[in-house]
Amino acid sequence: MDYVRDDLTALYPWFGLRVAHAGLVLTPPTDVELLELAALVGEPGGVLAPGQEHFVTWRTGDADAARAWLERSWAWRRAPDDGWLVPFAALEAGRVVGHATLGRGAGPGEAWTTSWVGRADQGRGLGRRVRLMLLELAFGPLGVTRAVTSAAEDNGASLWVSQRCGYRETERRRHPDGTPEVHLAVTPGAWRRRRLDGVVVEGVEPFLAAISPGSR
Ligand SMILES: CC(C)(COP(=O)(O)OP(=O)(O)OC[C@H]1O[C@@H](n2cnc3c(N)ncnc32)[C@H](O)[C@@H]1OP(=O)(O)O)[C@@H](O)C(=O)NCCC(=O)NCCS
Repeated sequence: MDYVRDDLTALYPWFGLRVAHAGLVLTPPTDVELLELAALVGEPGGVLAPGQEHFVTWRTGDADAARAWLERSWAWRRAPDDGWLVPFAALEAGRVVGHATLGRGAGPGEAWTTSWVGRADQGRGLGRRVRLMLLELAFGPLGVTRAVTSAAEDNGASLWVSQRCGYRETERRRHPDGTPEVHLAVTPGAWRRRRLDGVVVEGVEPFLAAISPGSR
């Protein structure tokens, strides 16, 4: 499969971004990996336990959800005019275990993240590592100075991951769908104390060269 990624990277350097740590790799998904992610999204309980549907703003648990996930993922491949947005498959020993996004935020030097881990793989520390790996890319070569995220007030695992990565609560407000949310932010100084050892980041220079200077 690597030749597909190599060929894609030559035309669209975004596919060459890669963050690796101890057998876990974040890299933009090819369609093969998107199909695996869509299978998790479409499986009843594949991502969320019953009653947790409000933890995310997208649909899960049936074929329509899987199809919508593909459409959403294909749309993410179109670089936004006024910034950058990179979706990542999380691969453990080559197996798709979850998904994350890193995007340019509204404020100067700001980036936002989202992430989910397939339910069968939750609770093994992957969520925390994925977040710290995203921050390694953001606060390192991308030069981000503040990362933000949000979670439903009762999403204990997500909030715990954020706190363990050094985030502090900034505000509480309702999502337009009515869900009460906690918003959080982290700076490089707070993250550095929780940083993972041995994260390897690749492919940033061609990515930065490909996005317009005004987008950084
Ligand atoms: C949030 C999510 C990404 C975390 O990933 P994960 O791999 O399960 O997380 P980790 O194993 O790294 O850590 C989870 C931590 O939360 C803790 N935790 C789990 N449920 C908790 C709860 N209800 N209250 C408090 N802490 C909780 C765990 O004990 C663990 O802490 P530890 O590292 O000290 O042992 C994952 O649970 C997920 O995908 N959930 C569904 C989708 C989702 O909610 N995405 C985020 C939307 S904002």
